[in-house]
Amino acid sequence: MYLLLFLLLKMYTLSQVHAYPDGSIAPACDSMIPTHPSFLPQSTVAPYRVTANRTTYTPGDVIRVTLESVNSTEFEGFMLQARTSSGKRTVGYFMPGNASLVRLHDCFSTEKSTISHSAANELTRIEVMWVAPLTSALDNIMFCATFVKNYAEFWTMVNSQTILLSNSPAPAVNLLMMSFCILIALTGLSRASSLL
Ligand SMILES: *[C@@H]1O[C@H](CO)[C@@H](O)[C@H](O)[C@H]1NC(C)=O
Ligand SMILES: *[C@@H]1O[C@H](CO)[C@@H](O)[C@H](O)[C@H]1NC(C)=O
Ligand SMILES: *[C@@H]1O[C@H](CO)[C@@H](O)[C@H](O)[C@H]1NC(C)=O
Repeated sequence: MYLLLFLLLKMYTLSQVHAYPDGSIAPACDSMIPTHPSFLPQSTVAPYRVTANRTTYTPGDVIRVTLESVNSTEFEGFMLQARTSSGKRTVGYFMPGNASLVRLHDCFSTEKSTISHSAANELTRIEVMWVAPLTSALDNIMFCATFVKNYAEFWTMVNSQTILLSNSPAPAVNLLMMSFCILIALTGLSRASSLL
């Protein structure tokens, strides 16, 4: 009887360990859903939030991203990506920081585009550093996270506010500039034709 109990306990522990081979969430790059068979993401509002220390960014900027509990509910795992506001792909890369706490993953064939928790200790807050690409990805971004409270309870797509790419003028400004340019071109044209 004791042996049976022991075996059951052992199996349970092993399955937990299997879910977090090194404490990390198995990186499901696209869905960001951890592979915890038969459990689905919670549909309630997450007791966690993701914030960034900037609301705009320019290429090459370093942004400090904070993942934290809003009511001291601990999390034992997380996964984080920076995505374009359309949500279609990841942007930039993460720095290792405290390597004993995090793990970097190459999702969508982009190096270090995903960061996750790599220790079994529970957290209420962690800060990570993200670096904006120097070129490409000229779009506004959002930080998207999955928080794992325990094997059965986790929340996906916990997003930060949108971080605006500051060297792209807002669409309204673009339109204004365009009309301005057309106006100048037209004025130039009418001058040219009056010269003829
Ligand atoms: C924190 O919020 C979650 C979800 O809203 C709730 O289930 C949990 O009981 C709360 N925990 C505390 C300590 O207030
Ligand atoms: C945000 O954090 C990064 C990294 O710590 C720092 O380099 C940057 O100056 C901070 N930006 C602001 C606006 O505080
Ligand atoms: C890294 O995290 C571990 C675990 O929380 C902690 O013991 C250690 O002091 C941290 N190291 C640094 C440099 O922050």
